[in-house]
Amino acid sequence: MPIRTERRDAVTVLTLDRPDALNAMSPEMLDDLEAALLQIDADPGQRAIVLTGAGEKAFCAGADIAHMRRATPQEARAFGLRGQGIADLIESLGTPVVAAVNGFALGGGCELALACDVRLAADSARLGQPEVTLGIIPGWGGTQRLARATSIGFAKDLILSGRLVKADEALRAGLVSQVLPRDELLDAAVGLAGQMASRPAEAVAAAKRLCNLALGGDTPSPYARELDGFALCFGTPDQQEGMDAFSEKRPPQFAGHAAPVQS
Ligand code: COA
Repeated sequence: MPIRTERRDAVTVLTLDRPDALNAMSPEMLDDLEAALLQIDADPGQRAIVLTGAGEKAFCAGADIAHMRRATPQEARAFGLRGQGIADLIESLGTPVVAAVNGFALGGGCELALACDVRLAADSARLGQPEVTLGIIPGWGGTQRLARATSIGFAKDLILSGRLVKADEALRAGLVSQVLPRDELLDAAVGLAGQMASRPAEAVAAAKRLCNLALGGDTPSPYARELDGFALCFGTPDQQEGMDAFSEKRPPQFAGHAAPVQS
């Protein structure tokens, strides 16, 4: 199973468990994550969730590039919709979700973390929305949630450049709320989730729902437009080149760029 589930009293730790691919999200992982989230949310004994990644390096390095590499715009739209749906589910669950960002949180990985209620990061973590380096744009809500969590300027800084930030810069920008030594991260996240789990569930769920209103979360149209933009990138020469270059482990040669793009 690519999603591992572990109970710690009323807290359930969900681990994205595909470390060989830096926990990149395949369609199967999205299915399993959805099933796990729904099962936990329906169980009154499971009162809070911690989402983290397996292995030393990554929380999640994004949507599975191998899966997307040859996607048509229609297929990309379907995958984007699926990822947006899981992010929406995390955001809308009554159960609070704490992200323990234990390493790279990139692209869809950063977007899943952004959909969580709180983000704690290891001091070794690196976060970003590097889609533009692949010739595409964020498609799982990142164009909206990154700006809402931080600022429009910081969101454009990351999304338009594709640069990655270290945990301390993410903390200053408000992208994460705490930075911890790597070996203390999971316990800290479970501790925080445990506090949430110990509070009256209905009050916590109502508070989460109301806090989400502060995000303007009831306006789906920006997400639909993000999906349009994401799908339109597929089949362009730069998307083919960006994903081919990643898979072939070489710098991309984008149309209109004299020199390879630096990451
Ligand atoms: N999709 C599919 N596979 C991925 C992946 C992704 N998003 N990210 C990493 N992997 C795979 C690599 O292909 C590699 O597989 P291999 O061992 O079979 O070659 C493995 O995970 C390890 O990644 P690698 O790139 O060798 O590790 P690194 O330490 O040199 O670099 C990253 C780490 C995170 C900087 C780099 O993997 C990366 O840039 N990943 C893509 C991030 C991204 O653009 N995400 C947005 C996708 S829309």
